[in-house]
Amino acid sequence: MMNNSGGNSEALAAHDWAGEAGARWLGQLDRFESMIEPIGEALLARAAYAAGERVVDIGCGGGWTTRRIAAAVGNTGLALGLDLSPDLVAAASERARRTGLANIRFVQGDAATAMPEEAPFDRLFSRFGTMFFPKPYRAFANLRRMLRAGGRLDIAVWAPITDNPWQRNVMATIRRHIDFPAPQPREPGPFALGEQDYVTDLLQSAGFSDIAFDAWNGDQRVGGPGSDPESATRFVLDGMQIGDIVRASGEDTRAAIHRSLVELFERNRDGEGVHMAAKAWLVRARA
Ligand SMILES: C[S@@+](CC[C@H](N)C(=O)[O-])C[C@H]1O[C@@H](n2cnc3c(N)ncnc32)[C@H](O)[C@@H]1O
Repeated sequence: MMNNSGGNSEALAAHDWAGEAGARWLGQLDRFESMIEPIGEALLARAAYAAGERVVDIGCGGGWTTRRIAAAVGNTGLALGLDLSPDLVAAASERARRTGLANIRFVQGDAATAMPEEAPFDRLFSRFGTMFFPKPYRAFANLRRMLRAGGRLDIAVWAPITDNPWQRNVMATIRRHIDFPAPQPREPGPFALGEQDYVTDLLQSAGFSDIAFDAWNGDQRVGGPGSDPESATRFVLDGMQIGDIVRASGEDTRAAIHRSLVELFERNRDGEGVHMAAKAWLVRARA
């Protein structure tokens, strides 16, 4: 059960995770999860969960991190995955069921407004699930209310797109063929929380303190480890939102974009697949 005072309409308006975006993520779930696995590992290592802790995983997607948290907190603890997408919640529940973990649950809801009945939690975790709130100040205040006093938040968010060639170069390549608006800083989306000052203000306004940032620098294996330029291109066009804009263009343009992306990925590959530099912030705060 969930006290969902604002419903899902707020989040749906800006980014359709409950519909198309969620379906896209689910369609490429293993690839997405393998791409961001190193960042999940880094965030889990920093969080260092102890037996018995009760943890909420915000925007848990297919539940990879939720399962890891459940294993870390053991039978006396709890891992609750909260996600806007009913399809992803169903997939996460099914994957968890297959592992036999007893202390894990998934619930569908908008983290900006919902309050899980298991709250307050000791810990709040999120790998790339907090950048999509249309009203982030209100949403982060709600996240703070999910935690007990003194509870801890650990989230991963992307640094600005200028520090993420794996996205910047893909967008620049596509923009050589079609015009589309560049996302505005702070606009809900993958790079909304790139600015440290802004994230600090969001967290402080919500009542968090002891805010600390660590930079994660590494590679993104576009399309997942072992991808080749062709499969990485298909991943971008089928799995990422930009694919919708490309699909709306003419056949010749689509073919030209496809060729340009393959060329880009040819220039950025090694024996383990396509790779490009990436940067994320691992953010910690105290409620
Ligand atoms: C980039 S995916 C990350 C998924 C997962 N955390 C992972 O690392 O594999 C973003 C996730 O956040 C969820 N999400 C976005 N906005 C949300 C909201 N307002 N409330 C709950 N979940 C949300 C999406 O449905 C999606 O599953």
